[in-house]
Amino acid sequence: MVPFPGDFLWGTATSSHQVEGGNANNDWWAWEQAPGRIRDGSTSGDAAQWWAGRAEQDLAWAAEQGQNAHRFGLEWSRLEPEPGRWDDDAFARYHQMFAAAKAMGLSTMVTLNHFTLPRWIVREGGWSSPTIIDRFTTYAARCGRAFADVVDLWATLNEPNVLAFMAYARRRWPPGVGSLLGCFRAQRHMLRAHASAYEALHTVAPAPRVGIVLNLQKFEASRRRGVDVALAAMQDWMINGSMLTALDRGVLLPPLVARPVKVEGLSRAYDWLGCNYYGRYLVRFDPRELEQGFGRHVQTNSTRTEWTDWGQPHPDGLTAQLVRLGRRRVPIYVTENGLFDNDDTRRPGFLVDHVRAVRDAIGRGVDVRGYFHWSLVDNFEWAEGWSAHFGLLELDRDTQARTPRRSGELYGQICRANGIPDRFDEPDAIPKRSW
Ligand code: FCB
Repeated sequence: MVPFPGDFLWGTATSSHQVEGGNANNDWWAWEQAPGRIRDGSTSGDAAQWWAGRAEQDLAWAAEQGQNAHRFGLEWSRLEPEPGRWDDDAFARYHQMFAAAKAMGLSTMVTLNHFTLPRWIVREGGWSSPTIIDRFTTYAARCGRAFADVVDLWATLNEPNVLAFMAYARRRWPPGVGSLLGCFRAQRHMLRAHASAYEALHTVAPAPRVGIVLNLQKFEASRRRGVDVALAAMQDWMINGSMLTALDRGVLLPPLVARPVKVEGLSRAYDWLGCNYYGRYLVRFDPRELEQGFGRHVQTNSTRTEWTDWGQPHPDGLTAQLVRLGRRRVPIYVTENGLFDNDDTRRPGFLVDHVRAVRDAIGRGVDVRGYFHWSLVDNFEWAEGWSAHFGLLELDRDTQARTPRRSGELYGQICRANGIPDRFDEPDAIPKRSW
């Protein structure tokens, strides 16, 4: 068996908008209703009905499988439906959900903001306006107080590095700004909001552990050509490096178009770091690829996946990113890792190989404290709508019935063993090589 440290957290991750249903008061809901924005034309609708009560049922299955943690997201538009008006019932429902998880033996990691914004704050400018910083800080303090007894780990923001690009540099996610300067401005406000919320959470509760979640991607030149190597390095800087450096030094270094910005209180404002990791991108120069700075992402036959946007599975890349984060000498969590694999043929192998990659990082001295697979149940996958299935539980949207996938059972064996067993109960379930 390949063992893990004694108190290692094994869980799955979800976010509010993707599973709750009925989040009609946020920017994504509004965005989904317009034609042409969601690949399959779907909307989040009633999602996996977590708000209506199905959260507890899915969490119970996770706990039965031997998972001992869950990563949740909070929906700001529920908690503060209008500026300054706080909804006690919404606070009570989240409290109930987190308390239920704890009662089942699941540690709770909770993200304050996982992409969605209340519509009223979008009217104030969303991440484009500095107004959001105080608003977010007040919201963080409220949550810090209200959930102090049921939250073990706080994350301020989910993937500000990706959100800034998808929503502000590109036009794939709301508000669809499409400008490099706009992206830089949003990044600045996100980092300022993070720093300020970090402090607020520390002020209102005795000893919260507060972190931030980044999506770290592996970029590699697709050919041994100087131009591809340079473009891969540039994309690594834009997506991974610039925010990491900002979190270390408190200075955001912009693209060529603007001056470096110092962010008060940002330097080392994290007690832990979260790594979302999906895969590797092979970068090739292409003068037509303007949006990605002339670096197109290519696939090779042996690495082809259903969809390119999460990159190709590449477990070694996860080890490398964990080692990179580990240099900061704080606890590290894999806050998301998963595969879009609707028929669950490749996910079992993917899972085992990535858990092994985490173990390799621990072996290299990185203080990895937990692994959260994305996701517990199929959910609304942003611009992909309901076409990309990531769940360990398969969801039938018509009946809301759940069916455990074999990768879910397999993950259970890992959780219960606290490591990778020498033999799985159903060894045939794990393809020798899945990509
Ligand atoms: C991550 C997001 C998460 C989910 C997965 C597949 O980038 O944080 O909400 O969409 O991708």
